Amino acid sequence: MKNNQKIALITGVNGQDGAYLAELLLKKNYIVHGVKRRSSSINTFRVDHIYQDPHEKNYKFRLHYGDITDSSSVSSIIKKTKPDEIYNLAAQSHVAVSFEVPEYTANADALGPLRILEAIKFHKLQNKTKFYQAGTSEMFGKVQQTPQTEKTPFYPKSPYAVSKVYAHWITKNYRESYNMFACNGILFNHESPRRGFEFVTRKISLAVAKIKNNLQKELRLGNLEAKRDWGHARDYIEAMWLMLQQNDPEDYVIGTGEQHSVKEFLEIAFNHVNLNYQDYVKIDKAFFRPAEVETLLADPFNAKKKLKWSPKINFENLVKEMVESDLKNVKDKVI
Ligand code: NAP
Ligand code: GDD
Repeated sequence: MKNNQKIALITGVNGQDGAYLAELLLKKNYIVHGVKRRSSSINTFRVDHIYQDPHEKNYKFRLHYGDITDSSSVSSIIKKTKPDEIYNLAAQSHVAVSFEVPEYTANADALGPLRILEAIKFHKLQNKTKFYQAGTSEMFGKVQQTPQTEKTPFYPKSPYAVSKVYAHWITKNYRESYNMFACNGILFNHESPRRGFEFVTRKISLAVAKIKNNLQKELRLGNLEAKRDWGHARDYIEAMWLMLQQNDPEDYVIGTGEQHSVKEFLEIAFNHVNLNYQDYVKIDKAFFRPAEVETLLADPFNAKKKLKWSPKINFENLVKEMVESDLKNVKDKVI
Protein backbone atom coordinates (compact mmCIF):
# COMPACT_ATOMS: atom_id res chain seq x y z
CA MET A 1 0.00 0.00 0.00
CA LYS A 2 1.33 3.44 -0.94
CA ASN A 3 1.21 6.19 1.71
CA ASN A 4 -1.22 8.40 -0.18
CA GLN A 5 -3.62 5.59 -1.05
CA LYS A 6 -6.98 6.05 0.66
CA ILE A 7 -8.90 3.22 2.31
CA ALA A 8 -12.68 3.02 2.03
CA LEU A 9 -15.17 0.73 3.72
CA ILE A 10 -18.56 0.17 2.07
CA THR A 11 -21.41 -1.55 3.88
CA GLY A 12 -24.05 -2.90 1.50
CA VAL A 13 -21.30 -3.30 -1.12
CA ASN A 14 -23.32 -5.83 -3.08
CA GLY A 15 -26.34 -3.57 -3.40
CA GLN A 16 -27.03 -1.43 -6.45
CA ASP A 17 -25.19 1.63 -5.10
CA GLY A 18 -22.45 -0.33 -3.33
CA ALA A 19 -21.33 -2.03 -6.53
CA TYR A 20 -21.17 1.24 -8.51
CA LEU A 21 -19.39 3.00 -5.64
CA ALA A 22 -16.80 0.22 -5.29
CA GLU A 23 -16.03 0.55 -9.02
CA LEU A 24 -15.73 4.34 -8.76
CA LEU A 25 -13.38 4.20 -5.75
CA LEU A 26 -11.19 1.52 -7.34
CA LYS A 27 -10.89 3.75 -10.39
CA LYS A 28 -9.78 6.53 -8.05
CA ASN A 29 -7.08 4.20 -6.70
CA TYR A 30 -8.63 3.54 -3.29
CA ILE A 31 -8.26 0.28 -1.42
CA VAL A 32 -11.85 -0.81 -0.99
CA HIS A 33 -13.19 -3.04 1.77
CA GLY A 34 -16.77 -4.24 1.50
CA VAL A 35 -19.09 -5.77 4.07
CA LYS A 36 -21.12 -8.73 2.87
CA ARG A 37 -23.53 -10.61 5.05
CA ARG A 38 -23.86 -14.34 5.34
CA SER A 39 -26.67 -15.71 3.24
CA SER A 40 -27.57 -19.29 2.38
CA SER A 41 -27.32 -18.39 -1.30
CA ILE A 42 -24.48 -16.42 -2.86
CA ASN A 43 -25.28 -12.71 -2.80
CA THR A 44 -22.15 -11.10 -4.25
CA PHE A 45 -23.22 -11.17 -7.91
CA ARG A 46 -22.97 -7.39 -8.37
CA VAL A 47 -19.30 -7.31 -7.34
CA ASP A 48 -18.11 -10.69 -8.62
CA HIS A 49 -16.38 -8.99 -11.57
CA ILE A 50 -14.08 -7.02 -9.21
CA TYR A 51 -13.56 -9.84 -6.70
CA GLN A 52 -9.95 -10.56 -5.76
CA ASP A 53 -8.42 -13.60 -4.12
CA PRO A 54 -8.24 -12.80 -0.36
CA HIS A 55 -4.68 -14.20 -0.33
CA GLU A 56 -3.53 -11.66 -2.92
CA LYS A 57 -0.91 -9.53 -1.13
CA ASN A 58 -1.38 -6.26 -3.00
CA TYR A 59 -5.13 -6.44 -3.01
CA LYS A 60 -7.33 -3.46 -3.85
CA PHE A 61 -10.72 -4.98 -3.08
CA ARG A 62 -11.57 -7.21 -0.16
CA LEU A 63 -14.85 -8.51 1.25
CA HIS A 64 -15.50 -9.15 4.94
CA TYR A 65 -18.38 -11.02 6.52
CA GLY A 66 -20.35 -8.73 8.77
CA ASP A 67 -23.80 -7.44 9.58
CA ILE A 68 -24.83 -3.97 10.67
CA THR A 69 -27.18 -5.52 13.23
CA ASP A 70 -24.14 -7.11 14.89
CA SER A 71 -21.99 -4.57 16.82
CA SER A 72 -19.07 -6.96 17.26
CA SER A 73 -18.62 -7.53 13.53
CA VAL A 74 -19.01 -3.80 12.78
CA SER A 75 -16.44 -2.92 15.42
CA SER A 76 -13.89 -5.54 14.43
CA ILE A 77 -14.05 -4.69 10.70
CA ILE A 78 -13.54 -0.98 11.45
CA LYS A 79 -10.66 -1.78 13.84
CA LYS A 80 -9.03 -4.03 11.24
CA THR A 81 -9.43 -1.76 8.20
CA LYS A 82 -9.05 1.72 9.81
CA PRO A 83 -10.76 3.36 6.83
CA ASP A 84 -10.39 6.98 5.75
CA GLU A 85 -13.99 6.89 4.52
CA ILE A 86 -16.97 4.76 5.49
CA TYR A 87 -20.04 4.66 3.25
CA ASN A 88 -22.98 3.14 5.11
CA LEU A 89 -25.20 1.87 2.31
CA ALA A 90 -26.43 -1.28 4.06
CA ALA A 91 -30.15 -1.27 4.81
CA GLN A 92 -33.40 -3.15 4.55
CA SER A 93 -34.16 -0.79 1.69
CA HIS A 94 -37.66 -1.80 0.57
CA VAL A 95 -40.41 0.52 1.81
CA ALA A 96 -43.29 -1.97 1.46
CA VAL A 97 -41.27 -4.74 3.15
CA SER A 98 -40.61 -2.45 6.13
CA PHE A 99 -44.31 -2.69 7.04
CA GLU A 100 -43.88 -6.47 7.26
CA VAL A 101 -40.56 -6.48 9.18
CA PRO A 102 -40.63 -3.16 11.05
CA GLU A 103 -38.47 -4.21 13.99
CA TYR A 104 -35.71 -5.67 11.81
CA THR A 105 -35.86 -2.57 9.61
CA ALA A 106 -35.31 -0.33 12.65
CA ASN A 107 -32.46 -2.52 13.86
CA ALA A 108 -30.61 -2.37 10.54
CA ASP A 109 -31.58 1.08 9.24
CA ALA A 110 -31.70 3.12 12.46
CA LEU A 111 -29.34 1.33 14.84
CA GLY A 112 -26.95 0.13 12.10
CA PRO A 113 -25.49 3.61 11.52
CA LEU A 114 -25.35 4.22 15.28
CA ARG A 115 -23.22 1.06 15.66
CA ILE A 116 -20.81 2.35 13.01
CA LEU A 117 -20.57 5.83 14.56
CA GLU A 118 -19.94 4.28 17.99
CA ALA A 119 -17.24 2.01 16.59
CA ILE A 120 -15.49 5.02 14.98
CA LYS A 121 -15.54 6.76 18.37
CA PHE A 122 -14.58 3.65 20.36
CA HIS A 123 -11.52 3.05 18.17
CA LYS A 124 -10.62 6.77 18.39
CA LEU A 125 -10.82 7.20 14.63
CA GLN A 126 -12.99 10.34 14.66
CA ASN A 127 -10.13 12.52 13.40
CA LYS A 128 -9.33 10.12 10.58
CA THR A 129 -12.53 8.45 9.40
CA LYS A 130 -15.18 10.33 7.41
CA PHE A 131 -18.69 8.87 7.45
CA TYR A 132 -21.43 8.90 4.79
CA GLN A 133 -24.99 7.91 5.75
CA ALA A 134 -27.39 6.83 3.00
CA GLY A 135 -30.40 8.99 3.77
CA THR A 136 -33.51 9.12 1.65
CA SER A 137 -36.23 11.33 0.22
CA GLU A 138 -38.70 8.92 1.86
CA MET A 139 -38.01 10.90 5.05
CA PHE A 140 -40.07 13.75 3.50
CA GLY A 141 -43.00 11.31 3.14
CA LYS A 142 -46.14 13.42 3.38
CA VAL A 143 -44.34 16.38 1.87
CA GLN A 144 -44.51 19.64 3.81
CA GLN A 145 -43.16 21.76 0.95
CA THR A 146 -42.37 21.30 -2.75
CA PRO A 147 -39.69 20.93 -4.00
CA GLN A 148 -37.83 19.45 -1.04
CA THR A 149 -34.57 20.98 0.21
CA GLU A 150 -32.23 20.25 3.13
CA LYS A 151 -34.47 22.53 5.23
CA THR A 152 -37.81 20.82 4.45
CA PRO A 153 -39.24 19.18 7.60
CA PHE A 154 -39.48 15.39 7.61
CA TYR A 155 -42.82 13.53 7.78
CA PRO A 156 -41.90 9.84 7.38
CA LYS A 157 -44.72 7.48 6.35
CA SER A 158 -43.24 3.99 6.79
CA PRO A 159 -41.14 2.06 9.32
CA TYR A 160 -38.32 2.37 6.75
CA ALA A 161 -38.58 6.15 6.59
CA VAL A 162 -38.93 6.53 10.37
CA SER A 163 -35.76 4.44 10.83
CA LYS A 164 -33.89 6.58 8.31
CA VAL A 165 -34.96 9.74 10.17
CA TYR A 166 -33.31 8.33 13.31
CA ALA A 167 -30.20 7.57 11.24
CA HIS A 168 -30.19 11.13 9.88
CA TRP A 169 -30.36 12.74 13.31
CA ILE A 170 -27.87 10.41 15.00
CA THR A 171 -25.38 11.17 12.22
CA LYS A 172 -25.90 14.90 12.72
CA ASN A 173 -25.69 14.43 16.48
CA TYR A 174 -22.32 12.63 16.32
CA ARG A 175 -21.04 15.32 13.95
CA GLU A 176 -22.00 18.05 16.41
CA SER A 177 -21.15 16.19 19.64
CA TYR A 178 -17.83 14.63 18.67
CA ASN A 179 -16.71 16.85 15.81
CA MET A 180 -16.89 13.93 13.38
CA PHE A 181 -16.81 14.38 9.61
CA ALA A 182 -20.23 12.79 9.11
CA CYS A 183 -22.63 13.61 6.25
CA ASN A 184 -26.17 12.65 5.36
CA GLY A 185 -26.96 12.30 1.69
CA ILE A 186 -30.70 12.77 1.22
CA LEU A 187 -30.97 10.86 -2.03
CA PHE A 188 -34.09 10.72 -4.15
CA ASN A 189 -34.94 7.53 -6.07
CA HIS A 190 -32.12 6.32 -8.28
CA GLU A 191 -32.23 3.33 -10.56
CA SER A 192 -30.07 1.41 -13.02
CA PRO A 193 -29.78 -1.96 -14.73
CA ARG A 194 -28.47 -3.18 -11.35
CA ARG A 195 -31.64 -2.18 -9.46
CA GLY A 196 -33.22 -4.86 -7.26
CA PHE A 197 -36.03 -6.77 -9.01
CA GLU A 198 -38.70 -5.83 -6.47
CA PHE A 199 -38.52 -2.06 -7.07
CA VAL A 200 -41.08 -0.71 -9.51
CA THR A 201 -38.66 0.44 -12.23
CA ARG A 202 -36.83 -2.88 -12.48
CA LYS A 203 -40.05 -4.82 -12.18
CA ILE A 204 -41.26 -2.91 -15.25
CA SER A 205 -38.06 -3.14 -17.32
CA LEU A 206 -37.79 -6.89 -16.77
CA ALA A 207 -41.50 -7.42 -17.51
CA VAL A 208 -41.18 -5.46 -20.77
CA ALA A 209 -38.27 -7.68 -21.84
CA LYS A 210 -40.13 -10.88 -20.92
CA ILE A 211 -43.44 -9.80 -22.50
CA LYS A 212 -41.63 -8.83 -25.71
CA ASN A 213 -40.12 -12.33 -25.77
CA ASN A 214 -43.44 -14.08 -24.96
CA LEU A 215 -42.14 -15.21 -21.56
CA GLN A 216 -44.68 -13.22 -19.54
CA LYS A 217 -48.31 -12.29 -20.27
CA GLU A 218 -49.14 -9.49 -17.85
CA LEU A 219 -47.62 -7.15 -15.28
CA ARG A 220 -49.34 -6.68 -11.90
CA LEU A 221 -48.67 -3.34 -10.21
CA GLY A 222 -50.04 -1.11 -7.44
CA ASN A 223 -50.31 2.68 -7.48
CA LEU A 224 -49.51 4.04 -10.96
CA GLU A 225 -50.16 7.66 -9.95
CA ALA A 226 -47.18 7.89 -7.56
CA LYS A 227 -44.67 10.53 -8.66
CA ARG A 228 -40.94 10.28 -8.04
CA ASP A 229 -37.80 12.24 -8.86
CA TRP A 230 -35.92 9.42 -10.61
CA GLY A 231 -32.21 9.61 -11.44
CA HIS A 232 -29.41 7.19 -12.36
CA ALA A 233 -27.44 5.44 -9.59
CA ARG A 234 -24.15 6.00 -11.44
CA ASP A 235 -24.65 9.78 -11.10
CA TYR A 236 -25.69 9.58 -7.44
CA ILE A 237 -22.69 7.65 -6.13
CA GLU A 238 -20.48 10.48 -7.46
CA ALA A 239 -22.38 12.82 -5.16
CA MET A 240 -21.72 10.53 -2.15
CA TRP A 241 -18.00 10.64 -2.85
CA LEU A 242 -18.00 14.41 -3.39
CA MET A 243 -19.66 14.99 0.02
CA LEU A 244 -16.69 13.37 1.75
CA GLN A 245 -14.14 15.41 -0.25
CA GLN A 246 -15.37 18.82 1.01
CA ASN A 247 -13.66 20.89 3.70
CA ASP A 248 -16.68 20.70 6.00
CA PRO A 249 -19.26 18.00 6.59
CA GLU A 250 -22.80 18.88 5.52
CA ASP A 251 -26.07 17.21 4.52
CA TYR A 252 -27.17 17.38 0.87
CA VAL A 253 -30.33 16.74 -1.12
CA ILE A 254 -29.49 14.78 -4.30
CA GLY A 255 -32.06 14.53 -7.09
CA THR A 256 -32.74 15.72 -10.62
CA GLY A 257 -35.38 18.39 -9.95
CA GLU A 258 -37.73 16.58 -12.37
CA GLN A 259 -40.73 14.46 -11.48
CA HIS A 260 -42.43 11.59 -13.33
CA SER A 261 -45.23 9.16 -12.51
CA VAL A 262 -45.07 5.36 -12.56
CA LYS A 263 -47.41 5.66 -15.58
CA GLU A 264 -44.85 7.75 -17.47
CA PHE A 265 -42.18 5.15 -16.71
CA LEU A 266 -44.50 2.48 -18.11
CA GLU A 267 -45.25 4.48 -21.26
CA ILE A 268 -41.59 5.01 -22.17
CA ALA A 269 -40.59 1.44 -21.28
CA PHE A 270 -43.36 -0.29 -23.30
CA ASN A 271 -43.16 2.21 -26.21
CA HIS A 272 -39.45 1.43 -26.50
CA VAL A 273 -40.36 -2.06 -27.72
CA ASN A 274 -43.46 -0.87 -29.65
CA LEU A 275 -45.98 -2.12 -27.10
CA ASN A 276 -48.77 -0.32 -25.23
CA TYR A 277 -48.59 -0.79 -21.45
CA GLN A 278 -52.39 -0.63 -21.15
CA ASP A 279 -52.63 -4.00 -22.92
CA TYR A 280 -50.53 -5.72 -20.23
CA VAL A 281 -50.73 -3.91 -16.88
CA LYS A 282 -53.24 -5.09 -14.26
CA ILE A 283 -53.82 -3.24 -11.02
CA ASP A 284 -53.34 -5.50 -8.01
CA LYS A 285 -54.27 -4.38 -4.47
CA ALA A 286 -51.44 -6.54 -3.08
CA PHE A 287 -48.96 -3.91 -4.27
CA PHE A 288 -50.59 -0.97 -2.49
CA ARG A 289 -48.96 0.08 0.78
CA PRO A 290 -50.61 0.76 4.16
CA ALA A 291 -49.45 4.36 3.69
CA GLU A 292 -48.26 5.75 0.37
CA VAL A 293 -45.82 8.54 -0.46
CA GLU A 294 -47.61 10.19 -3.39
CA THR A 295 -45.09 12.74 -4.58
CA LEU A 296 -41.39 13.54 -4.20
CA LEU A 297 -39.40 16.26 -5.96
CA ALA A 298 -35.87 17.43 -5.17
CA ASP A 299 -34.34 20.88 -5.19
CA PRO A 300 -30.65 19.95 -5.53
CA PHE A 301 -29.52 23.62 -5.48
CA ASN A 302 -26.90 23.14 -2.71
CA ALA A 303 -25.37 20.08 -4.33
CA LYS A 304 -25.08 21.93 -7.63
CA LYS A 305 -23.55 25.00 -5.99
CA LYS A 306 -21.24 23.49 -3.38
CA LEU A 307 -20.44 20.03 -4.74
CA LYS A 308 -20.57 21.18 -8.38
CA TRP A 309 -22.69 18.07 -8.89
CA SER A 310 -25.40 17.64 -11.48
CA PRO A 311 -26.99 14.54 -12.97
CA LYS A 312 -25.82 13.51 -16.46
CA ILE A 313 -28.42 10.85 -17.37
CA ASN A 314 -31.99 11.99 -17.98
CA PHE A 315 -35.23 10.10 -17.26
CA GLU A 316 -35.90 8.87 -20.79
CA ASN A 317 -32.37 7.53 -21.22
CA LEU A 318 -32.50 5.87 -17.81
CA VAL A 319 -35.70 3.99 -18.73
CA LYS A 320 -34.35 2.95 -22.12
CA GLU A 321 -31.02 1.78 -20.65
CA MET A 322 -32.87 -0.41 -18.14
CA VAL A 323 -35.13 -1.92 -20.80
CA GLU A 324 -32.21 -2.52 -23.18
CA SER A 325 -30.23 -4.20 -20.41
CA ASP A 326 -33.11 -6.53 -19.52
CA LEU A 327 -33.74 -7.36 -23.19
CA LYS A 328 -30.12 -8.51 -23.32
CA ASN A 329 -30.42 -10.41 -20.02
CA VAL A 330 -33.45 -12.26 -21.34
CA LYS A 331 -31.79 -12.98 -24.70
CA ASP A 332 -28.63 -14.26 -22.96
CA LYS A 333 -30.83 -16.27 -20.55
CA VAL A 334 -28.99 -14.83 -17.53
CA ILE A 335 -32.33 -14.03 -15.89
P1 NAP B 1 -29.96 -2.30 -2.11
O1 NAP B 1 -29.66 -2.61 -3.52
O2 NAP B 1 -31.15 -2.88 -1.45
O3 NAP B 1 -28.67 -2.70 -1.26
C1 NAP B 1 -28.66 -2.77 0.14
C2 NAP B 1 -27.44 -3.55 0.60
O4 NAP B 1 -27.48 -3.63 2.03
C3 NAP B 1 -27.38 -5.01 0.09
O5 NAP B 1 -26.07 -5.27 -0.31
C4 NAP B 1 -27.74 -5.82 1.32
O6 NAP B 1 -27.13 -7.08 1.37
C5 NAP B 1 -27.15 -4.95 2.42
N1 NAP B 1 -27.72 -5.23 3.73
C6 NAP B 1 -29.04 -5.27 4.06
N2 NAP B 1 -29.16 -5.54 5.37
C7 NAP B 1 -27.90 -5.68 5.86
C8 NAP B 1 -27.37 -5.98 7.14
N3 NAP B 1 -28.16 -6.19 8.18
N4 NAP B 1 -26.02 -6.02 7.30
C9 NAP B 1 -25.20 -5.81 6.24
N5 NAP B 1 -25.65 -5.54 5.00
C10 NAP B 1 -26.99 -5.48 4.82
O7 NAP B 1 -30.05 -0.72 -1.89
P2 NAP B 1 -29.49 0.48 -2.80
O8 NAP B 1 -30.56 0.87 -3.75
O9 NAP B 1 -28.14 0.15 -3.29
O10 NAP B 1 -29.42 1.64 -1.72
C11 NAP B 1 -28.26 1.83 -0.93
C12 NAP B 1 -28.64 2.62 0.31
O11 NAP B 1 -29.21 3.86 -0.06
C13 NAP B 1 -29.67 1.95 1.21
O12 NAP B 1 -29.36 2.28 2.53
C14 NAP B 1 -30.99 2.61 0.80
O13 NAP B 1 -31.91 2.60 1.89
C15 NAP B 1 -30.50 4.01 0.49
N6 NAP B 1 -31.27 4.76 -0.52
C16 NAP B 1 -31.53 4.21 -1.74
C17 NAP B 1 -32.19 4.94 -2.70
C18 NAP B 1 -32.48 4.38 -4.07
O14 NAP B 1 -33.35 4.95 -4.75
N7 NAP B 1 -31.79 3.35 -4.51
C19 NAP B 1 -32.60 6.26 -2.40
C20 NAP B 1 -32.31 6.78 -1.16
C21 NAP B 1 -31.62 6.03 -0.22
P3 NAP B 1 -27.74 -8.36 0.59
O15 NAP B 1 -27.21 -8.21 -0.81
O16 NAP B 1 -27.19 -9.49 1.35
O17 NAP B 1 -29.24 -8.24 0.66
N1 GDD C 1 -42.10 -1.78 -5.53
C1 GDD C 1 -43.25 -1.55 -6.17
N2 GDD C 1 -43.91 -2.61 -6.76
N3 GDD C 1 -43.74 -0.29 -6.23
C2 GDD C 1 -44.89 -0.08 -6.91
C3 GDD C 1 -45.59 -1.11 -7.54
C4 GDD C 1 -45.08 -2.45 -7.46
O1 GDD C 1 -45.63 -3.40 -7.97
N4 GDD C 1 -46.67 -0.57 -8.14
C5 GDD C 1 -46.66 0.73 -7.90
N5 GDD C 1 -45.59 1.04 -7.13
C6 GDD C 1 -45.27 2.38 -6.62
C7 GDD C 1 -45.01 2.41 -5.12
O2 GDD C 1 -46.25 2.40 -4.40
C8 GDD C 1 -44.24 3.73 -4.99
O3 GDD C 1 -45.12 4.82 -4.90
C9 GDD C 1 -43.47 3.82 -6.32
O4 GDD C 1 -44.05 2.84 -7.19
C10 GDD C 1 -41.98 3.53 -6.17
O5 GDD C 1 -41.85 2.32 -5.45
P1 GDD C 1 -40.40 1.61 -5.29
O6 GDD C 1 -39.77 1.41 -6.60
O7 GDD C 1 -40.59 0.43 -4.41
O8 GDD C 1 -39.52 2.75 -4.56
P2 GDD C 1 -39.82 3.68 -3.29
O9 GDD C 1 -39.99 5.07 -3.80
O10 GDD C 1 -40.87 3.12 -2.43
O11 GDD C 1 -38.45 3.54 -2.48
C11 GDD C 1 -37.19 3.63 -3.16
O12 GDD C 1 -36.75 4.96 -3.18
C12 GDD C 1 -36.49 5.52 -1.89
C13 GDD C 1 -36.05 6.98 -2.12
O13 GDD C 1 -37.16 7.81 -2.20
C14 GDD C 1 -36.22 2.71 -2.42
O14 GDD C 1 -35.02 2.64 -3.16
C15 GDD C 1 -35.88 3.25 -1.05
O15 GDD C 1 -34.81 2.48 -0.46
C16 GDD C 1 -35.42 4.70 -1.20
O16 GDD C 1 -35.11 5.25 0.07
